[in-house]
Amino acid sequence: MQKNTTQKILITGANGQLGSELADALAAKFGTDNIIITDISIPPNSVQKFKFEKLDVMDFDALVRLVKKYHISQIYHLAAILSAKGENNPKTAWKINMDGLLNVLEVARIFGLDKVFWPSSIAVFGPSSPKNLTPQHSITEPETNYGISKHAGELWCNYYFQKYGVDVRSLRYPGIIGYKSMPGGGTTDYAVEVFHKAVNNEPFICFLEKDMHLPMMFMPDAIKATLQLMDAKKENIKVRTSYNIQGMSFSPEALISEIKKYYPELLATYQPDFRQKIAESWPASIDDKVAKKEWNWKPDFTIKKMVKEMFVQLEIQKKELMKEGVL
Ligand code: SER
Repeated sequence: MQKNTTQKILITGANGQLGSELADALAAKFGTDNIIITDISIPPNSVQKFKFEKLDVMDFDALVRLVKKYHISQIYHLAAILSAKGENNPKTAWKINMDGLLNVLEVARIFGLDKVFWPSSIAVFGPSSPKNLTPQHSITEPETNYGISKHAGELWCNYYFQKYGVDVRSLRYPGIIGYKSMPGGGTTDYAVEVFHKAVNNEPFICFLEKDMHLPMMFMPDAIKATLQLMDAKKENIKVRTSYNIQGMSFSPEALISEIKKYYPELLATYQPDFRQKIAESWPASIDDKVAKKEWNWKPDFTIKKMVKEMFVQLEIQKKELMKEGVL
């Protein structure tokens, strides 16, 4: 495939669960040299294939400097505080989530960037939204401060598109499950942790009730959706707040029963904490037919296919770590 090397991409929050994988996918498309990764702290891997710059997204001047220095044409703004962590310090979470986004939108407007990607979340919905197959256009009365910031952020994205023509595109991600890195501070994180416990023969204590259904997605589908949305023709993107998408919907009990087909000895217990209440306020499943219609969204992974692939990859990782003497 011929690489498109005319774009210079800046990723914020690049050390996070999504950022680390999206950077590779974007590099395959645009070339490694055209990807600038940024985060508040230096990346965990000592050998970095991408140019890294330390960036606090609340620092507007620093963001401007980087956009100028690298002639940036697209920003993937992933830096955020997730739902559970956000409840510990609502004002700080609000500041990071909102100021960060507004800085990116302003820079996009001033410098006329080609495109911006910003993730929203199923957290924009609340207890008054329909629980099952929540429609694209539905009641949005979130109860977490994370959800409030995502809802407000969606409206700001729409505002910048309508008023200034900033081509900002967004997805309402469900819980994302991947094998390369751990999420941090989310309510759906249990669905990643449980795989690691199974592979390491450790007991798993679930912080949600066993029948708590939530919308979820395997990382390759999340990456695919992001690239597909960003590739879509501008005129096909009719939703300028954020698109509903999901890959699957399951409960901890259903996931554990699938995992036990590979690791029958996994010991799982349930000790719901404050995150249960957050999960209860969210939809159990999402209707993503608008994304399907407007830019051909279609997930590849079912729960069965995902669990199988997770274990194939985690076992490979484990063997490599053992070879390196880390385990
Ligand atoms: N995965 C996120 C969280 O749990 C939802 O967007 O916070």
